[in-house]
Amino acid sequence: MRDLGVCYYPEQWDKVLWKQDAERMAEAGLSWVRIGEFSWSRLEPEAGNLHWDWLDDAIECLGSAGLKIILGTPTATPPRWMLDKYPDMLAVDEQGNKRKFGSRRHYCFSHEGYRDESKRIADLMGRRYGTNPHIAAWQIDNEYGCHDTILSYSDAARKAFQIWLKQRYIHIEALNEAWGNVFWSMDYEEFGQIDLPNLTVTEPNPAHCLAFRRFSSDQVVSYNQAQAQILRRHSQAPLIHNYMGRITEFDHYAVGKDLDIASWDSYPIGFLSDRLEAEPEHKKRFLRQGDPDFQAFHHDLYRTVGKGRWWVMEQQPGPVNWAPYNPAPLPGMVRLWSWEAFAHGAQTVCYFRWRQAPFAQEQMHSGLLRPDGEAAQGLYEACQVAKELDDLQKKQSLAPIQAQKNKVALLFDYVSQWAWDIQPQGADFDYFRLTFEAYKALRQLGLSIDIVPPDADLSDYALILAPGLLTLDDVKHETIKGTSLYGPRSGLKTKDLSIALPLGPNLADLECKVVMSESLPSSADQELSVGGAITGWLEHLETDAPVHIATKEGHPIMVGKEGQYYLAGWPDEQGWQAILSELCQQAGLAVTAMPQGVRQCQNQGLRFLFNYNDHPVSFDGITLPAAGVHWQS
Ligand code: GAL
Repeated sequence: MRDLGVCYYPEQWDKVLWKQDAERMAEAGLSWVRIGEFSWSRLEPEAGNLHWDWLDDAIECLGSAGLKIILGTPTATPPRWMLDKYPDMLAVDEQGNKRKFGSRRHYCFSHEGYRDESKRIADLMGRRYGTNPHIAAWQIDNEYGCHDTILSYSDAARKAFQIWLKQRYIHIEALNEAWGNVFWSMDYEEFGQIDLPNLTVTEPNPAHCLAFRRFSSDQVVSYNQAQAQILRRHSQAPLIHNYMGRITEFDHYAVGKDLDIASWDSYPIGFLSDRLEAEPEHKKRFLRQGDPDFQAFHHDLYRTVGKGRWWVMEQQPGPVNWAPYNPAPLPGMVRLWSWEAFAHGAQTVCYFRWRQAPFAQEQMHSGLLRPDGEAAQGLYEACQVAKELDDLQKKQSLAPIQAQKNKVALLFDYVSQWAWDIQPQGADFDYFRLTFEAYKALRQLGLSIDIVPPDADLSDYALILAPGLLTLDDVKHETIKGTSLYGPRSGLKTKDLSIALPLGPNLADLECKVVMSESLPSSADQELSVGGAITGWLEHLETDAPVHIATKEGHPIMVGKEGQYYLAGWPDEQGWQAILSELCQQAGLAVTAMPQGVRQCQNQGLRFLFNYNDHPVSFDGITLPAAGVHWQS
């Protein structure tokens, strides 16, 4: 069963509105309501003085209207009194400045006192509502990592980092060796001497930085795990976290292992303006629609993080307030985004938020209702989706969702993101962008994709892409039966970010060494003989393997045999098309050249088509209106 929901903040509204809000939600066809995740100051206005009454009433009121409740632990918003108790609980930025109270996420993941407070409030909530029949799911915290909040250079972090290092390396000599601390006399005599890698005179050791990134991610995992364990003692309801788009500072797969459902917050127009590298022409074309692949990428990622169970917890309903520009969605886009999530296997899509708040930071952020309580455009489209879902599910029971179901796998790895953040070796090298461009190219060929971690079982895939992987140590090569492509920059380093020796990628069946890498400005693009070009990153190979694709000047770019290939450069859009067309043919995958801005997704025996354009497009005998969605068996 697929359904819809909405995010609601009873503490922000007069109690007299609750009942009518709840009834209107139910009438609109919404089944879920998420509450509570920022409510700590109203639940516990002073330390130990708990005010449950209003939350009891809100739960009763929403639940009685037939809504299922997702109750959030409020740990993303520690109240002001907490700082008097723990003045050192604030995160510290790379420049050594303490972050301040007055917004949210102002805590350091390593602060033991705050960790205890988080467990305490989760325990209190679990005890009070764990068996409440209206509580059908829990959300832990809110958007780990949003507002740049994973890395903290606090005293608490330094102490915890030293302990973490000791557990990982055991002997200080092993750490010195693994990091190459003989260089610049950086040897340590004991773990207690190791500081955090900020404020050094010139760049710190990349191995030191990567260790700090791994540690910081582990802190998020254990912080989340502590709340998860507590809630499980009191409640059978599934546990969820809402991840945010293109936040990569912690390992989402690892957090997901402790939870039942993965969800993410989808703001397509905000993302296009705020966190996507694209030509101005592209940003103009999709200004009111969002990028045609960015949401799908995250849907396919969170399907894996959630082991098949995933939601959109916050869906953009109209203009947001936080991007450089905040246009209104083209009419029909709220519906399109919702359907695209269902096409990729989402169980539930919740809109953010019910009524636009006339006060505080997000007063310019739309809701399904305007600030005066009248319906906004988003509500009409949500109602339409509710009705369409209902109609479709009456005709066709949508089968259980599979975590992995497609023929193409794209490996996506958080550690590689950290490694290339630390050592881009050129102004433009970004791991997410590399992986996302490969994903886009696959979608332009009409393919449906699974995004999986490096250690996934790859036996069901006809085609596997592994760009930019720090190491190949975790890849289950023995499971691979299909065609695989590694690189650029895959398998060339150790886990401590030193150059691998013998030189990588060290693929068992492929004689090939990367002997030199160049980063290049776009003025030095290398044209490929098959069309397109290599842009930004070029590797030099020593190999006897057959060369399948080369630059016009004869520099080998794609080499390999018997289904295993290495890619020695970063292709542009046309280059990816040439490479993938050849690989898909080998892998026996049928491809469809999709018209610009039109995407398809096959799922549950249905084929969905989405038109991200602001004009109609005819394709395959179907005319899709602007922002159109079409499905057929
Ligand atoms: C999300 C966040 C919400 C709200 C929303 C606004 O990142 O989880 O609380 O701030 O953005 O778009």
